[in-house]
Amino acid sequence: MRFDLITLHPEICAAPVQHSIIGRARDAGHISVAVHDMRRWAIGRHRQADDTPYGGGSGMVLRVDVVDRAIDAVRGETGHVVLMEPSGVPFTQRQAVRLASLEHLVFVCGHYEGIDDRVRQHLVDETLSIGDYVLTGGELAALVVLDAVARLIPGVLGNADSIKDESFSHGLLEYPHFTRPRSYRGWDVPGVLISGHHARIARWRKEQARLRTLAIRPDLAGQEGSASHAGKDPDSGVGEPSA
Ligand code: ADE
Repeated sequence: MRFDLITLHPEICAAPVQHSIIGRARDAGHISVAVHDMRRWAIGRHRQADDTPYGGGSGMVLRVDVVDRAIDAVRGETGHVVLMEPSGVPFTQRQAVRLASLEHLVFVCGHYEGIDDRVRQHLVDETLSIGDYVLTGGELAALVVLDAVARLIPGVLGNADSIKDESFSHGLLEYPHFTRPRSYRGWDVPGVLISGHHARIARWRKEQARLRTLAIRPDLAGQEGSASHAGKDPDSGVGEPSA
């Protein structure tokens, strides 16, 4: 899968896509990532990409013509163009699964006070927001979406089971994990996990996931299976160790 990021701050995007799992996935050829400096398509000697808002108000607004030229140069035949902005559609695991089925994503990172709304109206395929808060720009948001989508691409994560059982994949938060030491400062690993009884462990994990979801995300409870990427059976894989 191919990812392009169009940004006024390419340096912000560079490091997160060079290291760890995403960096290795690029090296292995599972994904490709290109970061494009929007100023290449900006205006005049000063490479201006923004201007004052019509109707007045504070701050500067990203110009539609600059963004249009950038998208035109990058999207090619295949690009599905996503505008990152706080007023976009909420990004969820379900959206990540949907986007992971596409072959080519192009992220447009908004910056400054805003972006000319004709970009949203005419130039992009969709808008996404990563949450109900305002960042200084769309770069970190685009990197969040890229990361969440890329790890779903076959081969990017070594262990496909870790996707099967993780938070949200069944519409619930993930069950708790434990490893050695078995007792630390008097904090013991739950006995059931040492029992070797696979069916009991599976039941315990399922119950823990349900209780945790009820306590922390009651809005998710009752939606079990709704975000499953693994097919129609929301119980598939539950109870198998994830690591
Ligand atoms: N740009 C600024 N804030 C954002 C957010 N919450 N989501 C996506 N893009 C953004």
